[in-house]
Order: sequence, then C-alpha cells, then structure tokens
Amino acid sequence: MINVYNSLLARDNGVMVQHPVSALTVGDLMSSPAVTCAENTSLGEAAGLMQHHDIGSVVVVEEGKVAGILTERDLLRAAAGGSDPNTEPVRAWMTANPDVLGPEEPAGTAWASLRHHRYRHLPVVEDGNLVGVVSMRNLMGAASLTAGDASLEAPRGLEGVIVATTAVGDVRGHEGFYHYRQYSAVDLAASRQFEDVWHLLLFGELPDLARRREFLDELHAHATLPESFRHVLATVASAGSPLEVLRTGISLLGAHRALQPLSDIDQATARADAIGLGAAVPVLLASTYRLARGLQVVEPRSDLPLAANYLWMLSGTEPDPEQARALDQYLIIATDHGFNASTFTARVISSTQADLASAICGAIGALSGPLHGGAPSRALDMLDAIGRVENAEAWLRSAVASDQRLMGFGHRIYRTEDPRAAFLRTVAQRLGGPLVDLAVEVEQVALRVLDELKPGRELHTNLEFYAGVVMDRCGIPRDLFTPTFAVARTVGWTVHVLEQMADNRLFRPSARYVGPPPPQPVPDL
Ligand code: ACO
Repeated sequence: MINVYNSLLARDNGVMVQHPVSALTVGDLMSSPAVTCAENTSLGEAAGLMQHHDIGSVVVVEEGKVAGILTERDLLRAAAGGSDPNTEPVRAWMTANPDVLGPEEPAGTAWASLRHHRYRHLPVVEDGNLVGVVSMRNLMGAASLTAGDASLEAPRGLEGVIVATTAVGDVRGHEGFYHYRQYSAVDLAASRQFEDVWHLLLFGELPDLARRREFLDELHAHATLPESFRHVLATVASAGSPLEVLRTGISLLGAHRALQPLSDIDQATARADAIGLGAAVPVLLASTYRLARGLQVVEPRSDLPLAANYLWMLSGTEPDPEQARALDQYLIIATDHGFNASTFTARVISSTQADLASAICGAIGALSGPLHGGAPSRALDMLDAIGRVENAEAWLRSAVASDQRLMGFGHRIYRTEDPRAAFLRTVAQRLGGPLVDLAVEVEQVALRVLDELKPGRELHTNLEFYAGVVMDRCGIPRDLFTPTFAVARTVGWTVHVLEQMADNRLFRPSARYVGPPPPQPVPDL
C-alpha cells in the first residue's frame, strides 16, 4: 500500500520509509513565488493579498531577507485585539524571524516541523533568498495527489486531521481561543443570553430585542410535552441514570414526533425539528428527574428564558437570578466546540441521512464518556475526596503517580489554558462559597503537580473542572451535570447536523486490517 500520510508521519518519528513519495522535497511541494509584503504594510493590505491569492499567509520581507510571516490567525488575533487594519502595520502582529526550510529538504522534514510547532506555513529559503512557502495545505494536497487510489492513513484519534469544513465555529488551541460564527464564545457569554447564541448558530446572526422575543416564543411553543407523551416518559423515568433516560427520551420523542430521515425533508423542516428537539431537552430532563423521584412535573413558564426555566422546572421554586445567569453563561460556554467526539458523532450519523433524533442520541452516547462530557461530576468527586487544600498535594501526586487522570485537566486541542475554564472560574468566583475557594486552590496545586510529573504535556485546566463547581453552586444535582451539558450541546449538535445536511458526503473511512492473514480454509466441524 502506498501510504503518503503515513510516510510523512514515519519520518516524523525518525524512521525512513521506502516508497515513491519519500523522494519528494520541500521544493516539489512549496507554493512559489511566495506572496510578500513589507513590515510597514497595513494589516488591511496584507489581508487583501491573502484574499486575492487565496492563501493563508504572507511572508514579510525587508531588504530581500525574510523578516517575518503573517498568517490568517494573526489577522484574527489583531481583529480580536481591536486593531485598526488600515493603520496597524504587519510588524505588530507577524511572527518575527520565523523558522525556515530549504527547498532540498525532504517533505517529511516540513511535515515534522509544521506538526511539531503547530505551524501552518513556513517560508522556504535558498542561499538567503526567499523562494516559496510550504504549508499544511501543500502537504495534504501532495498526499492526495500522490496516493491516487491507495489509502491515506490518518494519525490515531484523527488528531490534527481536517475531516470537514464548517462555518459554525472553531477552536484555536495554541491561542486559547474559540468562537461561534464570527464572535468569540467568551465575549458572547459575557454579554448575551443563551437563546441569542442559539439564534446566531441557527440563523447566522444575533437577534435584536424584537427577534429575540419572537424566537423565545417559538422555543416555548415546543417546550410543552403532550400529555400522551408524558405517560410514555413516566414509564422510563427511573429506568437508568438521568443521561440514559434523556437519551431514551429523545429517541422516544423522535418517534412520537415522527421525525423523518434527513433524506426525506428540506432544510426548513430539519431546522424546525432542531428547534423542537433543543427546546424539549431541558423539559425532558427536568420532568423525568422529578418523575423518577415521585415528584409532580413542573410545567415550563413562558415568561422565563431557558436557563431560569430549567432551574424552575427542576425545583419548582422561583429561580435565583444570580444562579440563573451563571447557568445561562455556562450553557453559552458549552454550546459548541469544534469537531469534538460528540459533534463528530452527530455529523457521522447525519451523513447517513438518518433522522435528527438518531444523531442526537448518538452524540449523547459519545458525550457520556469520562474523556469527554462525563468528567464534571468526577471532577467534583475529586474535590470531595481531597476535602481540604492541605490534602491536595499528596492526593494529586499519588493519583498522577499511579497513572490516574485528574478530571478537569488536559485537552486534545488546547496547549494553553482552556478559555472556558478561565471564564467559568470567574463565574464560580462570582457565586462564591467554600467549594469555589477549594476548587481555586486545588487547581493551582494540580497544575503544579501535572507540570512536575507530566512535564512537556501542556496539561491545563479544562471546561469540566469548573463546570461541576458552577452547576453545583446553581443547585443542580451532580447526576444532572452531564445531562445539563447536553442541554447546551444539543444546540451545537443540531446546527452541525443542518450544516452536514446542506452539503453532505457520507463519512466512510477505512481501517487497516491487522488480524490473521486471509483467506484461510474454514475448518470442518
Ligand atoms: N491527568 C493526568 N495526566 C494526563 C491528563 C490528566 N487529566 N490528561 C492527559 N494526561 C497525560 C497522559 O497520561 C499522557 O501522559 P504520558 O505521555 O505519560 O502517557 C499525556 O498526558 C498525553 O495524554 P493523551 O491521552 O495523549 O492526551 P489526549 O489528547 O488524548 O487527552 C483528554 C485529552 C482525554 C481530555 C485527557 O487530557 C484526559 O483524559 N483528561 C481527563 C478527563 C477530562 O478532563 N475530560 C474532559 C475533557 S473536556 C471536554 O470533553 C468537554
């Protein structure tokens, strides 16, 4: 099997693989000539160059020598920092004196450098002169060109592999930044309410006050579950954990509402199904939670937004505005987050054109695992087990030394602090209390212990560490932490399903067979 991708990876690991593509050099793959600008070019002009040439970077040249590189990522950082693109010079945002490659260097060296440093572009220099730029896009393009009918082998866990395009949002792990559409998710959480973000993701724009009212009314119309369906729910409410009951409830609701396969409906119907499911999830959760405890169901109210309504339906008491706002902010923070495991699951299922409820049930299954959405209650269990800050050092050391994972730390994408954790820390501190104080202190010890015992792994606090703390302070029971995460994520999942539906291609990868060589004679009985 010709395996270009694998060959590049093998070189990364210091192993040379003999096959045709190993002869490729940086010079074979680079884009040439490179598009350049000067240090004092404005960001606006540089952005224009990138757009005009359909490229993701420009090389900054001074006196014929490479002085820096400016990428799309730098432009976004500059925009987020409030820079004026007409006056701000490239110099202020470029990476100065970037690493460079020579045209004769093997393609594997470029791959290793880009992958290791998480760069997307590197200037190519020969005898001190700029001769081109090599990018991840060049390498991936070469892989698909050269492999022809043969398979490409992706790294385990698909780390770093782009499997689709999306306009929903993205995560930039090195910068500790993520966004919904064109807005920073953290900025949205600071200033908007959950339904606004829902509207943004669903319709592509934030609502004004009148439109928000209209959208809230639409959501409320879907929030009441019919009496006939309640009876069905009552029979399953105590059949398992709240998350299992939610997964089952969504499956039943899909059947009850006769949701059709995506192949048989148009975008408008699928969007209506998405709104209907998203609005029903908090009601399903709160009612089954109460039914399982022999309590009467509390009806949703049309005067409350989703977060406050959820607290109301769970407790039957007037929600505290501070808690309702904290929960609202948590839901915004947790709505979407790139191609995580549950979102990918939802997209894979919808790529078969199954119905929306099937995609959401699958996504809930993926979310339930401790490496994904199952961590917040475990993070709180950890705080309980530690009990007092004096115990933290010994407890955490012993856990890491015995190869346990500290719940709420580490992330596949973030190589710096998870912005969701940083934001939720401030929300938790606003709510205050001994649990929050303990969490803040334990976090510091955990980061120090991880840095010492797992050096170089870049393990930082993730969303889940403070998610549990915030939810606990909002009065949400521990076994509802992951289901409450699902309230927010259902919005993200459904929007991804709509996007997949709009431009679908069935996900159907391959696996490398490593079992006993076939065919072998089938033994007689
Ligand atoms: N505690 C201790 N060590 C850790 C942790 C952790 N939380 N996370 C990663 N490591 C270590 C691993 O043991 C490994 O060490 P090694 O090189 O000695 O073998 C190294 O860091 C790299 O780990 P990977 O498994 O390759 O990292 P990956 O990117 O696959 O994992 C994950 C990301 C699953 C989130 C991981 O950090 C983890 O298990 N964290 C704890 C669970 C958690 O908090 N989950 C919530 C994630 S956020 C979300 O889904 C919303």
